[in-house]
Amino acid sequence: MTERLELYRCEICGNIVQVMHEGIGELVCCNQPMKKLEIHLKHEEMLGEKHIPVFVGDKEIQVGSIPHPMLSEHHIEFIECFSADKKHIEIKFLSPNEEPKMQLIKNENYAGAFEYCNIHGLWLGER
Ligand SMILES: [Fe+2]
Repeated sequence: MTERLELYRCEICGNIVQVMHEGIGELVCCNQPMKKLEIHLKHEEMLGEKHIPVFVGDKEIQVGSIPHPMLSEHHIEFIECFSADKKHIEIKFLSPNEEPKMQLIKNENYAGAFEYCNIHGLWLGER
């Protein structure tokens, strides 16, 4: 059973998909099951300080208390924040050389944010 907003990746072609409607079926791409992206934990490795999304005031999220690199070979692909009930989200896709930040558009009291690093995977920051 999937859960809303979970992310799955195909280990063959690199497709990443997000669950918008939960179901009991297995997600398959390139003829094999997709792998659920597991969230890295704060204390895991020493990478957290460059990967945990941080809310800056009410209007901005930045990736890392020390900003994450944004090189073509190693960068943040997207930042997504969500409300506690997962009914509201905002997402920003990033390109190399952009700042690892997103400006919030809606006036929601978001509970947390994910970011996805092309090398180090999915990280969660809570407000
Ligand atoms: Fe990284």
